[in-house]
Amino acid sequence: MLTLLALPLVAGQLVPSQTYDPPGAAAGNTPSTGSPNTQWSAVLGNSLWFYDAQRSGRLDAGAYPNRVAWRQDSAVNDGEVVGLDLSGGWYDAGDWIKATYPLGLTMWALSWSAMSYGPGFEAANQTAYMDSTLRWGYDWLMKAHPTDDTLFVQVGASAHDGGNAYWGPDSGLAGNRSCYAINASYPGTDAWASTAGAFAMGSLAYQGTQWNTSTSAWGPAPLANASYSAQLLKHGETLYRVAKENDKKSFIDSIKDIGPAYVPNSFGDDLCTAALALAAATNNSAYYAEAYNHYTNYSLSRSGAVWNWDSRVPAAYVLFAELATARPGLAAGAGLDANLTGWQTEVEGWIERSIAGDSGRTYISHAGLLFWAGDSDEASLNPAMAFAALLLRYAPLASSTDKATQYRDFAATQIDYLMGKNPMNVPYIVGMHPNSPAAPHVVRGSGLTDQSNLRDPPTNKDTLYGAVPGGPRPNDLWWPWRDDWVQNEIALDYNANLPALAAYQLATGAGDPYYVGVTAGYTVPAGQPCDAALPCKNGLSGGAIAGIVIGCLAAIVLAGLAIWLYRRRR
Ligand SMILES: *[C@@H]1O[C@H](CO)[C@@H](O)[C@H](O)[C@H]1NC(C)=O
Ligand SMILES: *[C@@H]1O[C@H](CO)[C@@H](O)[C@H](O)[C@H]1NC(C)=O
Ligand SMILES: *[C@@H]1O[C@H](CO)[C@@H](O)[C@H](O)[C@H]1NC(C)=O
Ligand SMILES: *[C@@H]1O[C@H](CO)[C@@H](O)[C@H](O)[C@H]1NC(C)=O
Ligand SMILES: *[C@@H]1O[C@H](CO)[C@@H](O)[C@H](O)[C@H]1NC(C)=O
Ligand SMILES: *[C@@H]1O[C@H](CO)[C@@H](O)[C@H](O)[C@H]1NC(C)=O
Ligand SMILES: *[C@@H]1O[C@H](CO)[C@@H](O)[C@H](O)[C@H]1NC(C)=O
Ligand SMILES: *[C@@H]1O[C@H](CO)[C@@H](O)[C@H](O)[C@H]1NC(C)=O
Repeated sequence: MLTLLALPLVAGQLVPSQTYDPPGAAAGNTPSTGSPNTQWSAVLGNSLWFYDAQRSGRLDAGAYPNRVAWRQDSAVNDGEVVGLDLSGGWYDAGDWIKATYPLGLTMWALSWSAMSYGPGFEAANQTAYMDSTLRWGYDWLMKAHPTDDTLFVQVGASAHDGGNAYWGPDSGLAGNRSCYAINASYPGTDAWASTAGAFAMGSLAYQGTQWNTSTSAWGPAPLANASYSAQLLKHGETLYRVAKENDKKSFIDSIKDIGPAYVPNSFGDDLCTAALALAAATNNSAYYAEAYNHYTNYSLSRSGAVWNWDSRVPAAYVLFAELATARPGLAAGAGLDANLTGWQTEVEGWIERSIAGDSGRTYISHAGLLFWAGDSDEASLNPAMAFAALLLRYAPLASSTDKATQYRDFAATQIDYLMGKNPMNVPYIVGMHPNSPAAPHVVRGSGLTDQSNLRDPPTNKDTLYGAVPGGPRPNDLWWPWRDDWVQNEIALDYNANLPALAAYQLATGAGDPYYVGVTAGYTVPAGQPCDAALPCKNGLSGGAIAGIVIGCLAAIVLAGLAIWLYRRRR
């Protein structure tokens, strides 16, 4: 349904020429006719619609009227308890918290896609929605950064801690929610730097200039706005300086009562990616020199890491390679060699080790999904889709056309898997196809009335179009149960690379996504998921394993004591 809109509601933002509404799951078996591909246009449109559905605060604060009929205003007084306006932004996942650190990854990935796949956004008439999505995120991050060193890292308490879960309508969400900030006395190097990098990438996206690393089919989405770009850059530069100058510490170690929602492993990757993005945004070699210093100082070379909310090293490799082409002067100005060959070696080593499992960090499921041991355990699709997005970005810079082809082909296997080429015949995007997940673990729209029974109703009352859930288990099985948050929770960062994947397909004129040919019908597998949400009863429990370990340690200690006594006697 197309609705013509009247005047822009918010000055300076792009306004869609017509409202995009999701076509509905039943349309998922209809082949596209003509160009642009209507199915990929729907994937892109739904992937951004998802961010509208996750909005917090006043829903009409954007450039166009709220298009998610079943959402209502909520948490409109966030920040009042600290005398600030922290309303707006997005709910991070299926619960109610607003979380700043993982938002850094989301904003980075969204901005990066806007810088490169403009023709895809344009073809699907989604540029205005991308503008609105980026601004909704960045406008809130600017509110969350009220003074140089203060950054609000979370609003609301964690829902997984058992005490604060609220499974009711958005209109009933409590007010006066807790607000947690880092500052010079309570430092958070990771959160400061992650947010600095996100602002720098946003600044680049709003420069709207040609990012000269790609084929001629690619280019930026037409978002150019010099004043907004400068505003974002100022926040980015300030946050990076604060991250650099204060004690180095994780925000999670400074703010003890924040709850365990996100516990980052390191901050060297955040510092490196922030400095690198600032180098790109400012064309200032001093930032490049610092990025290179972080890269060496924190031993970021030859990593086998995943690219996700916690781990930014792979993005640094690819951005270093892009800068060697797009801005070779940056390295020269820092007295370094732009060294495209060296960065190709770094990126390609990471890609090939990841595919082959050589770093011992990865394996490929029987049906072909790439898993990172540990990182994929609580959300299997996200690491694989992030990998695919990086492969497609990097392929034009590969050291040979053979490698470029190999990388694009591997990315296609991951995307096909997401789109339903898997043993479950499930396209893992809510509302795309009759077999799509229909009970995502998300409070809003679930229709749940009995908090003690998360499986009722069996499908959500309202469809969260475009949401990518956690995903299947390493055995490729997937259970559609809402209480299984491992497989069915949704999150801002789980979706962060979907716009890039879809816009790429549109920009390159790809044929229909795999799901169009997937026959309607899904069968719940036998057995149990055996994951962190629904552990298996017949396996050894953590307590049993601990008991065995303690027993073995005690035996070793006793044996050692016996030997020592025996020797002493002699
Ligand atoms: C650029 O963005 C700013 C901030 O949102 C807005 O006030 C201004 O009108 C925009 N300028 C143009 C030319 O769209
Ligand atoms: C984009 O908008 C144009 C003009 O309003 C319209 O003709 C076209 O069908 C739209 N394309 C898509 C994919 O929505
Ligand atoms: C916030 O707390 C104040 C003071 O206790 C109270 O007056 C107000 O009604 C509360 N607001 C909301 C939205 O809960
Ligand atoms: C710094 O952060 C801590 C922890 O969030 C907070 O208790 C304190 O009031 C803040 N200090 C300033 C000066 O804002
Ligand atoms: C990027 O490439 C375009 C087209 O080849 C060219 O017009 C433009 O000047 C280049 N920009 C930069 C920053 O090198
Ligand atoms: C970056 O700076 C170099 C010189 O330091 C200049 O040649 C180049 O044009 C600049 N690029 C951009 C995109 O501003
Ligand atoms: C190098 O890394 C160490 C931690 O490994 C950190 O304490 C130090 O500040 C870093 N130095 C620079 C110049 O970044
Ligand atoms: C380029 O990168 C390679 C591989 O990382 C490295 O061995 C080489 O020293 C680098 N060359 C320069 C001039 O920086």
